[in-house]
Amino acid sequence: MRKTKSLSFSFLAITCFFLLHSQSIIQALEHIATSEYEALGLATEPKRETLEIIIGGGGGGSAPAPSPESSCPPPPPPPCPPTLSRLDRARRVLLKFKSNIYDPTGYTSNWNENTDTCNFHGILCGIFPNTNDRAVAGLDFNQKKFQGKNCDTIPLKGILDQIEELTFFHVNSNSFYGSIPKEITNYKYFYELDLSNNKLVGEFPKEVLDSKQLVFLDLRFNQLTGSVPSQLFKKDLDVIFINNNKFSQCLPENFGSTPARYLTFAHNNFVGEIPRSIGNANKTLTEVLFLGNKFEGCLPYEIGYLKKATVFDVSQNSLTGPIPASFGCLEKIQFLNLAHNKFYGTVPESVCVLSGIKNNGNLSLAGNYFTKLEPACWSLLKSKILDVSNNCIPGLPNQRSKQECYEFQCKIKPCSNPQSLSYVPCKPHWGNKQNNAPASQEMATEPVTYKSLNPHRLRP
Ligand SMILES: *[C@@H]1O[C@H](CO)[C@@H](O)[C@H](O)[C@H]1NC(C)=O
Ligand SMILES: *[C@@H]1O[C@H](CO)[C@@H](O)[C@H](O)[C@H]1NC(C)=O
Repeated sequence: MRKTKSLSFSFLAITCFFLLHSQSIIQALEHIATSEYEALGLATEPKRETLEIIIGGGGGGSAPAPSPESSCPPPPPPPCPPTLSRLDRARRVLLKFKSNIYDPTGYTSNWNENTDTCNFHGILCGIFPNTNDRAVAGLDFNQKKFQGKNCDTIPLKGILDQIEELTFFHVNSNSFYGSIPKEITNYKYFYELDLSNNKLVGEFPKEVLDSKQLVFLDLRFNQLTGSVPSQLFKKDLDVIFINNNKFSQCLPENFGSTPARYLTFAHNNFVGEIPRSIGNANKTLTEVLFLGNKFEGCLPYEIGYLKKATVFDVSQNSLTGPIPASFGCLEKIQFLNLAHNKFYGTVPESVCVLSGIKNNGNLSLAGNYFTKLEPACWSLLKSKILDVSNNCIPGLPNQRSKQECYEFQCKIKPCSNPQSLSYVPCKPHWGNKQNNAPASQEMATEPVTYKSLNPHRLRP
């Protein structure tokens, strides 16, 4: 039994890793919790009282009362604290944590003397690798609305810094506050940190940059400010969700070194150009949400290298220039959203014939200054896949006024490298018969990252 469980723990670790690195993150996001439990066999696990009796810690068991008859008290016991098991130590931390929070839904009500630590709500146990020790492998307090005792916030210190066996810490939608304890950088198997929709303030938490095993980082919906450090993009992260904060400044030049598949940077205050290095992420980058920032300048042609990208959304920024011809190389793209910027020129044929877009995709160019559609684009318009409302296209309804379009034309600043915008780094797709075949497989995948624009957890 111990052997199996020990294997299970490693399996959990590997499962996390594998799931997050698998193609289908949506499955990973949906199934990770259950498969962790399945992996640990908790559903079918027989009762564990035998082990648990030994532990019984955290209860503050009372010392034996001195016998009234004895005239002289027994000598005090040697001041040697008993060594606590991993589980016992975590139990103490959890009970102390419970005593310091307001738990409006009573989620922690079974955290008491009569309950095995591993049966506490929100606790996942496993056997710590290379030992026979049961340990708390993960905490899941997603959407439990925990607060401090006085309707205030809860420090991360006191919980996240106290359980070195953690593989994940999922606390979406609570009131956690304060710096991320640097202890996490020494945790050997810490894979997932979800602090989304809490009360984090201040600069990007540098501690996560030193956490060696992290693959999943979710800091969405906090109040983080300042720049995003370049080291973030060197880390072997699969998912970076930092949308709906107050990050500002430019993205670092090495942005494209990230091996992440899912990047949501939406609804911050990022400025400057989208770094040309983005093309270097062509082996992995699948969904990119940049919407709702202050990005400016022209789109770099290197975006066309992103042959795995299914979602690219830069809507609601201050970007300008024409659509680079390289966009015709985005062979997997389904959702391309450039709406509400200052793009202009002709909408290229090569983009309108991309199979992912034609087959139930979405090409949103509303609220720009485009002046012309090439023929294939007109059929997308008819099938309502393409939205070009509020542009400058003669003969179409819902366009900007002539005056507005004229004034814009007079103010156009050319892109810094205009020749690059006609560069096509792939074989063009035009006239490719395969494009007429329904891309049924591609249609099946639903975008993942748009769900990150809702503050609540991504996992069910
Ligand atoms: C990936 O992008 C780089 C430039 O960023 C480019 O040199 C390389 O050819 C691309 N690889 C593929 C397979 O498209
Ligand atoms: C396309 O995307 C835009 C922007 O997200 C959305 O408003 C619109 O409803 C979508 N259109 C279709 C047909 O799905």
